[in-house]
Amino acid sequence: MSIKINQINDWVAEIIGFDCANMTREMRQEVEEAFKRNHVLAFRDQSLTPRELSAFSRKFGPLESPINKLYVHPESNDVLILSNEIRPDGTAVGVVDGGDGWHSDSSHMAIPAKATILQSIKNPDVGGDTLYCNMELVLNALPQSTRDRIKGHFGVHNVSKLLNPRMTVSTNRPDAKDFYEKAAKTKPSVLQPMIRTHPVTGVHSLYVSPRFTIAIDGMDDAEAQALLDELFEYILDERFQYRHVWSDRDLVIWDNRCLNHKATGNLSPGDIRRMHRTVLAGDQAF
Ligand SMILES: [Fe+2]
Repeated sequence: MSIKINQINDWVAEIIGFDCANMTREMRQEVEEAFKRNHVLAFRDQSLTPRELSAFSRKFGPLESPINKLYVHPESNDVLILSNEIRPDGTAVGVVDGGDGWHSDSSHMAIPAKATILQSIKNPDVGGDTLYCNMELVLNALPQSTRDRIKGHFGVHNVSKLLNPRMTVSTNRPDAKDFYEKAAKTKPSVLQPMIRTHPVTGVHSLYVSPRFTIAIDGMDDAEAQALLDELFEYILDERFQYRHVWSDRDLVIWDNRCLNHKATGNLSPGDIRRMHRTVLAGDQAF
């Protein structure tokens, strides 16, 4: 074993003394093994350029192309900028409201994401944490009667916040309303199994989110919304959560196939947070 792994809890680990910009094949295999046992891996002290972040990410498989082309990094089409910074002319530097509701990345697409890699470029003095919820633990905690109600059902997932009564469109992001109006017309809903099987470990998890799951296919909507509310309550239970408090130069990779996550925000006025993100493409959920 050439990499040093510190377990933070049963499903989160940090990796110390590792240079993501110079990862050998052996090191990659060790990271992939660690990623089978953990749903979140935090690499400390990484300072990759956008091109290096892209190259590091691609060693784990093909990447998704960011759907919001406005905020792709000029040095790499693979890298999306997430930031609350607004230029003097009023335009945003990156996606301002990224991750502001519990979700699993790209569950609104027919082929959802496998994993997300997020690199801290500029850490705020206060706030900006990321919360993760282990949806395997959530599924295990559900009463059998609730499991029976969702078994075999499919959630309806959509990217547009305008179709989701649980979400509001950020007024901080100048283009957000246009983006979600266009998305509501051009990005059809997709169906995802409410109970998902992890393609590598075979473990089942609850695969819904307040951000993207807007209905349950074939279920009366009043009944479906009440059931979704009941399920979403579990995500808020801290027993199932891990809070990542970012340090400068952290790079975190997480498994979207069994987690929900959320950006907590709460930045001080004028304090800037900037992250670079790549997304590893996944497989159809089953
Ligand atoms: Fe996300």
